[in-house]
Amino acid sequence: MEYVRVAGTGDIAPGQIVPVEAGGQKLLLAQVGDAYYAAQRKCPHLGFNLCRGSLDGGAVVCPLHKAKFDLATGKIERDPKLLFIKMNAKSDLKTYPVKVEGSDLLVGV
Ligand code: FES
Repeated sequence: MEYVRVAGTGDIAPGQIVPVEAGGQKLLLAQVGDAYYAAQRKCPHLGFNLCRGSLDGGAVVCPLHKAKFDLATGKIERDPKLLFIKMNAKSDLKTYPVKVEGSDLLVGV
């Protein structure tokens, strides 16, 4: 696994989700309190951009059908839903380790 610098600690604030790229992959970088998380940017359900989603504790919520994924493990916490129709998120979210080196944020890909 190779760690790639994706941002500086000043590029993101607690409660934010920002788009980054590492190893040719489009990822999201999120800050929850003092912790940083990286994950695939596309929602596993229908591919919506999760950078446009919101944080709920240590989870990201997709704005399209409200699927919720734990950012530490990638596990589905809530399946997508459209009005009263429950759907299947298809798979967990792929997550990546984040390292802080000085003021640099590195993601392992
Ligand atoms: S595309 Fe994300 S929940 Fe449907």
